[in-house]
Amino acid sequence: MGIKDKIIGKKSPPIMDVLNKTLQLEYSLIIHYPRLASTIEDEKTRELVLRLGSDSIKHADVVASAILKLGGDPVWSFDPFPAGSDIVKIFQAQLEKEKLALQLHQQSMGLVRDNLLREKFGELAKTEEWHIQIVEDILSRLG
Ligand SMILES: [Fe+2]
Repeated sequence: MGIKDKIIGKKSPPIMDVLNKTLQLEYSLIIHYPRLASTIEDEKTRELVLRLGSDSIKHADVVASAILKLGGDPVWSFDPFPAGSDIVKIFQAQLEKEKLALQLHQQSMGLVRDNLLREKFGELAKTEEWHIQIVEDILSRLG
């Protein structure tokens, strides 16, 4: 950081805010899915939930790499697991997070100039569309 930045305070560009928000969101998705999977008896559904978790790990990895590539610092934090909520409510919250993840990846696509990164965010957005379908499917099975 240059002396001028130190004096006036370096403001992070919009893309960094979006990427760090995305990273924290993916982390919340990652930490909740294994615990949710352990509560599900149907083997196929459980496998899907674990897949959502491992995909989110890959997504966090892509997003953290993008932050570093663009010269930023990845921020590591996540929402704690909701206490006392029933499983349907938790999956409904996960569904909202998947939808938000889709929005954020699309936002990043619009903000980033690097073609390769834009392509990667396009792939992440596509995966989120699939995740949204899976969580909706799980919710209909639970309901
Ligand atoms: Fe996802």
